[in-house]
Amino acid sequence: MNTTARTSNPQLPSAMSLNEAQELLTLYASNPPFRSASDQELVLNENPCRRPVRPEDLEFLDYRGILKEEEVLGLSSLIGHRMLLNINDTDMVLLPLSENESAWREFEHFYSRDNRVLGEMVRSTLETHLFHFLEERAVCTKLVSADDLKDYFSSVFQEYCSSRNSVVDTILSRVNRQVSATTFLIQLLASSLSGVPAMMHSAQGNYSAVHYELFSFLERNGYTMRSSEDGRIADLQSMVRSRKLHDQPHTYWQYYLTSSLALANYAHYVARDPLKFFRYLGALFYQELRSKALASQHKQMLQEIFGSDIDTKYFGQQEKYGQDYAVAAFDSLITPTIVKYGNARCQDIVQGFDEFKLLHEIAEQDLIAQVIWVDQAKLYQEKGRRIYEKIQSENMQLPLDTFVEQASECSTTHIHDAHRLLVIEAGVMHFWNALDSSFVFEPGDITLVPSQRLHGSTVLSGECTYHQPIISDELMLEFNKMF
Ligand SMILES: [Fe+2]
Repeated sequence: MNTTARTSNPQLPSAMSLNEAQELLTLYASNPPFRSASDQELVLNENPCRRPVRPEDLEFLDYRGILKEEEVLGLSSLIGHRMLLNINDTDMVLLPLSENESAWREFEHFYSRDNRVLGEMVRSTLETHLFHFLEERAVCTKLVSADDLKDYFSSVFQEYCSSRNSVVDTILSRVNRQVSATTFLIQLLASSLSGVPAMMHSAQGNYSAVHYELFSFLERNGYTMRSSEDGRIADLQSMVRSRKLHDQPHTYWQYYLTSSLALANYAHYVARDPLKFFRYLGALFYQELRSKALASQHKQMLQEIFGSDIDTKYFGQQEKYGQDYAVAAFDSLITPTIVKYGNARCQDIVQGFDEFKLLHEIAEQDLIAQVIWVDQAKLYQEKGRRIYEKIQSENMQLPLDTFVEQASECSTTHIHDAHRLLVIEAGVMHFWNALDSSFVFEPGDITLVPSQRLHGSTVLSGECTYHQPIISDELMLEFNKMF
């Protein structure tokens, strides 16, 4: 993290120093609902306020600076986005699903005045850390008129409509396609259950023609809380229920990838800040073009994998949109805004469009890397074994972490910023990296955990001792020559 960036943190409240912000973040993460998960909490289906953050990681994570683009899938980003979504979700009413007393205690902690005030105090530090890289990435093309924007947005829509989606191709070519497709569905829940309501936030305002157009656009596109045939959330819930998945937020919290959390948080980031209203419009428009353009590919992928078992009405309602959708949608949402407020707003609109486009592109690469790793478990165990043999035979001195954990000790899902081997010396470990993808590792078992890949573990024996040699990117390139 460079010190120049730290001293020029552009959104930090002037009354708070960076060190104070870091201390407040540690305090924020210490709220009981954010404690690490137990071995009984791999799936959290009773209590939407139970949000394991891994607060112990705040002991070494540093939020005083700004992430570079290549760091946005790192551990500080995962933990930071978990905290930021917790802050954002206090805008919503997330009731426990039963009379369970402990769930209601956590509900009270989650919505307590202290938690909400503290959340607002650290919000800008987190948002700057996580999203400032978007602003540093200059928009290449200067788009100065409504016609420029319409041409650019339409070209993106046409490109998505006419090309194969890389996530779809990756999932369809997996050995265990159902696990991969389930991971896809869980990421959709991660980005939508909070992100869709966030996008509705900006429809409230001064009841001008611009707001009525926005409200109408949102309604036409399924942004409604009505459990009707046009409701995007209701259709998503129906789809996941048809796969016997839970439909309540945030049951699969531990399986949310960093980039999926980022999509939800970005929706809040632009929608809840009136100063970002025109960026919000651009981001909303990108989201709609993207979902329409990819709907039929996503639907066909899920039907090919799950057959008639899956309810795909969520995508089906979007299939009716053809190539001219982008132009018509632009004229309904963007044109009235530019007519009223002038071409000066174009750059903000395209900024929001491009920022959300970039975040979606990062999310696609994150998901692709995760499903490939999950699907190739045996290959990564073989790679790990051969790398470990080489380390030992050549007496290579690598940085090494050794852990001794007790029975039932659980590592809430996390990622590492470097590649690591996992070498079990003694005891038994339950290791998981996706819903329905887990392994029981015993003494002598080894696997390779690539950097930025989400995983968690639980000790199944009385005690488990394991080692993690840490492998730099440069050394990994050398090791890769063996395969
Ligand atoms: Fe780990």
